[in-house]
Amino acid sequence: MKYGHFDDARKEYVIHTPQTPYPWINYLGNEKFFGLISNTGGGYAFYRDARLRRLTRYRYNNIPVDNGGRYFYVYDEGDYWTPGWMPVKKELDAYECRHGLGYTSITGERHGVKVNQLAFVPLGYNGEVHQVTVTNTSDQVKRIKLFSFVEFCLWNAYDDMTNFQRNLNTGEVEIQDSVIYHKTEYRERRNHYAFFSVNRPIDGFDTDRESFLGLYNGLDTPQVVTSGEPSNSVASGWSPVASHCLELTLQPGEQTSLNFVLGYVENEEADKWESPGIINKAPALAMIEQFATEEDVERSLAELKAYWERLLSTYAVASHDEKLNRMVNIWNPYQCMVTFNMSRSASYFESGIGRGMGFRDSNQDLLGFVHQVPERARERILDIASTQFESGGAYHQYQPLTKKGNHEVGGGFNDDPLWLIVGTAAYIKETGDFAILDEQVPFDCNPDNTATLFEHLKRSFYHVIENLGPHGLPLIGRADWNDCLNLNCFSNIPDEPYQTTQNIEGRTAESVFIAGLFVYTGPDFIELCRRKGLTEEAAEAQAHVDTMRAVTLEHGFDGEWFLRAYDHYGQKIGSQENEEGQIFIEPQGFCVMAGIGVKEGLAEKALNAVQDRLETPYGIVLQNPPYSKYYLNLGEISSYPPGYKENAGIFCHNNPWIMMAETVLGRGDRAFELYSKIAPAYLEDISDVHRTEPYVYAQMIAGKDAVRQGEAKNSWLTGTAAWNFVAITQSILGIQPDYDGLRVDPCIPADWTDFTVTRVFRGDTYVIRVSNPQQISKGIASIQLDGTAIDGNVLPVIGDGGTHQVEVVLGVKVALV
Ligand code: BGC
Ligand code: NOJ
Repeated sequence: MKYGHFDDARKEYVIHTPQTPYPWINYLGNEKFFGLISNTGGGYAFYRDARLRRLTRYRYNNIPVDNGGRYFYVYDEGDYWTPGWMPVKKELDAYECRHGLGYTSITGERHGVKVNQLAFVPLGYNGEVHQVTVTNTSDQVKRIKLFSFVEFCLWNAYDDMTNFQRNLNTGEVEIQDSVIYHKTEYRERRNHYAFFSVNRPIDGFDTDRESFLGLYNGLDTPQVVTSGEPSNSVASGWSPVASHCLELTLQPGEQTSLNFVLGYVENEEADKWESPGIINKAPALAMIEQFATEEDVERSLAELKAYWERLLSTYAVASHDEKLNRMVNIWNPYQCMVTFNMSRSASYFESGIGRGMGFRDSNQDLLGFVHQVPERARERILDIASTQFESGGAYHQYQPLTKKGNHEVGGGFNDDPLWLIVGTAAYIKETGDFAILDEQVPFDCNPDNTATLFEHLKRSFYHVIENLGPHGLPLIGRADWNDCLNLNCFSNIPDEPYQTTQNIEGRTAESVFIAGLFVYTGPDFIELCRRKGLTEEAAEAQAHVDTMRAVTLEHGFDGEWFLRAYDHYGQKIGSQENEEGQIFIEPQGFCVMAGIGVKEGLAEKALNAVQDRLETPYGIVLQNPPYSKYYLNLGEISSYPPGYKENAGIFCHNNPWIMMAETVLGRGDRAFELYSKIAPAYLEDISDVHRTEPYVYAQMIAGKDAVRQGEAKNSWLTGTAAWNFVAITQSILGIQPDYDGLRVDPCIPADWTDFTVTRVFRGDTYVIRVSNPQQISKGIASIQLDGTAIDGNVLPVIGDGGTHQVEVVLGVKVALV
């Protein structure tokens, strides 16, 4: 069942009912100021850090689930309602929500009044603009009152929901003209405040939550709105809110627009005050001034749209499959940009207070956005690398505001360092910027202890070699990619966090996954050594990679598939010998992507085993059979009921590894079948089962052993976005950035006849037309660049900033005698 439709021309998803199976959200903001907004107007805003600089309050795990946002209430002669349906839930005569790239437009109509709320964060602006357009669609004169509403968060979102003995006393506001200023804690150490304004004189206001709602009312029945009378309350402690009241008289057919701005301001210490106790409002007024008119909104929205057009134009496919086109051209890269901005911090499944930027996560996310914002990818790499330890190990996470490693979580996830090589290599392949390797980068954020980025990569590489276990495979440490396979945790105390507990020193448990990752990314490190003229280092690294490959074949293969790990006792995990958890997806993906066992025929066996044992109609489960009880030696993975999360859920993040592995074997039909099983646009028709947004990936879909098979959770912030983008754009459609040019090597379903990819690469535009006259999956018969045949399959960097026509014919290459 569908709840909306894709409007590809406008790059929007259009939602037809407020009662979607779960709140379907969107993100506003591209740089520093961000908002989350659902299809019913729920959500919140923050500046840079969802924990430390939260502007508006949001209650996670609320009842109902999505209650709280920037709401606009209509009071219409005794009747009152909200155009996004929530929170009042009065029946609407019409409803539509359009989520676009960086903006959301919600329209509701009732009893002859139509209200549209258009929300976006303008480029380079530290605030949200909400343009509210009210139309009288009746044939009577309408006299309505519009009440805006936001509830302020007292900045630190964690403190805000825990430290009530203090924070019910600190709230402070100022009201001047049509602007409500939130200045809690500004009197002391903060130099920032928030404001909520409207570009028209107001007829009343409220800033005290209790006065606005009534102590015993919810957001569905605020007493100010139900009575139609603002109380002009001034908050003092308790919970500051901002509500404007505007009386509007509209003739039949008349329409009027109001610009609301929810903004954030920082003042220099010397400029904090206008007069004692009165905040300096000049910067806020300047921001408000920028959105004085309807034209201001129009222009700014057009700029935002142009910005997205530019970003998305870097890679565009034209194929026979509209679902493929919309995923590749619009929604998948959009989700990649959101993960770039948010990492795993703030979504409807991540509270914004728990997790910062993951070392592993951010490097993988980079694979999906480096082509869109290479300069920002560069900065991200250097930020990530700065949190690395001298040993080559790494903090698992760092805070976006401070860019410092997170001590509470610490390090010890032994796959982490290698992802830095993966991320850096992707950046250099995209940009050709080898100079990044010479940047001086701190260890543990200490500016007095630095080394080149290349040295950091070397430490990453050797961190694996210096931490090998009894079989010569990499030690797993606290965990590898699978955060829940905690082989040194041994926790039997209820409140001990799995993610930070390591009760065993851990010099025996080994990971075949890290071995696969090492062999996969090792060649990148070797190539970078060569490019730097370090021939001996390259040879030495090559020897390590060769050994790891051999060790993996010897100790990492279990007859039909790759093993997952050896536990603390040296027992196999992910083996036929196990009763549960006999086969895991991760090593099958990464070992085959690394080319391990391909020529021996073992890779093919492994992927066939994945198909037999792990594949379901909704995607590939992480392992099988699921763990039916808690295993002390395995940790969190066995804490989940069967079929959920890492315990045999369909982890969408590593499904693309299998797609990519299939392309290594040339099996394009399989690769694409797997792609279309989990790509959200293909699941739109089963939105009632899938439940999360049909335009973005979720981290997990409940697996075949779960009670609620096929149901997704944790949409938006997941490495799934980046990896699926890589799988489809590089492995399947086959346009791969490489050090010296664009490699072309598609692996597609045999019955595809043709497709075209337009790729902007290092300033040039390549229009690559691929045709498939022999109906094969993989192999190139010929390539012509601007009419001339080229040798091999790498399109050179031309560098003239022009557009170049490329004709690729798939087929078996005919050798010229
Ligand atoms: C989840 C993992 C996640 C980890 C992060 C675990 O509870 O199952 O998917 O990576 O928490 O902290
Ligand atoms: C989510 C985490 O963000 C990611 O780092 C991890 O690899 C997966 N879960 C699997 O546990």
